[in-house]
Amino acid sequence: MTSMDESWTLRNGLKIHHRSVLAAMTNKQSHDDGCLSDNEINFLKRRAKGGFGIITTAASHVQQSGQGWTGEMGVWSDHHIPGLTRLADGIREYGSKSFAQLFHGGMRCPSSLTGQQAVSASENFISNSEGSSREMTIEEVNETIRSFANAAKRCEDAGFDGVELHGAHGYLIAQFLGAKTNRRSDEFGGDVLQRMTFLNKIIDAVRECVSPKFSILVRLSPVSDDNGIRLEDTLIVCESLLSKSIDALHISCWDVFETHTSGNTLTKEISQFIDNRIPIISTGSVWTGEDAHFLLQEGADGVGVARVALPFPDWPHSSASLNYSPAKPPFSPGMLMDAELSSIFVDYMRRWKGFVTDGK
Ligand SMILES: Cc1cc2nc3c(=O)[nH]c(=O)nc-3n(C[C@H](O)[C@H](O)[C@H](O)COP(=O)(O)O)c2cc1C
Repeated sequence: MTSMDESWTLRNGLKIHHRSVLAAMTNKQSHDDGCLSDNEINFLKRRAKGGFGIITTAASHVQQSGQGWTGEMGVWSDHHIPGLTRLADGIREYGSKSFAQLFHGGMRCPSSLTGQQAVSASENFISNSEGSSREMTIEEVNETIRSFANAAKRCEDAGFDGVELHGAHGYLIAQFLGAKTNRRSDEFGGDVLQRMTFLNKIIDAVRECVSPKFSILVRLSPVSDDNGIRLEDTLIVCESLLSKSIDALHISCWDVFETHTSGNTLTKEISQFIDNRIPIISTGSVWTGEDAHFLLQEGADGVGVARVALPFPDWPHSSASLNYSPAKPPFSPGMLMDAELSSIFVDYMRRWKGFVTDGK
């Protein structure tokens, strides 16, 4: 039986010393020019010290116009490299592997932030105030693919172990994957395999400009009503991704205990389908040692956590114990600040229902 404190390897042979994965968490702590702040670096380094096998950064935009919110980390320019280097060095110091999450918000980029109409795979209604997105031209699609590759190269130059391509949660890659948000009639639209073209081309472009030892992860939402992604589509996407030069899949379930119509959890459905052909990380509502153990039994190779790592940065150290049951929210601002969250991040967490004692 696999234990949380056992090492594992990604498809390219990268050895990870622990099964725990710090999932990407937006924390609003970056500077306006996208550079990492000391607060953000300290927050992530503290979790590396706490024993996480993988540390994933917050979603970071690969193009200035792909920014989804303020305080977001950027990877769109070489001026970000010194901060990225300090972060990668700090994570390596503790033996964790570092991954930058690369993303473009697409139709979820507010025009108040980017100064332009949001773009997407197709023209999609956003909101009454934002209106609709504009369908990207082929030139824009190709330029965005290049931006993902350039961003990955910056991360490798900065000393990161890899990147995670953010294909989950309804951002640009998911907008291309979904039948509802992608109604293109060119090579980037059509059936699910055709809707994958954008992601496939990003993977190829990234791989072309990084070394084989640099790892590429792909994060997916297995089911999304908003984008029009069904589990059946995701299985086709997963099968097709196996032939690409990627090193692990990361599925974002929000609640790994929830069962699909088949009666199985999404992790079980996907891990049975994948049948050990590529490592899988699964994330969503894991809190205790028992939860982590359950997820490993469902077939995950890596156990992703986000929220529990905020008050408990040393979570990995205890996660192999079935008796480990850390306190549940709400947490006081003081407790979160003691765990290296700055007042900006604590304030952001006040928006997550029931998480901070004086929050929503
Ligand atoms: C504060 C916060 C910020 C998040 N930001 C991101 C993000 O930038 N990218 C991403 O893929 N997921 C993001 N997520 C989702 C988490 O990675 C994770 O999938 C989700 O919180 C479920 O895991 P948990 O129950 O362990 O928190 C965020 C979650 C939280 C709580």
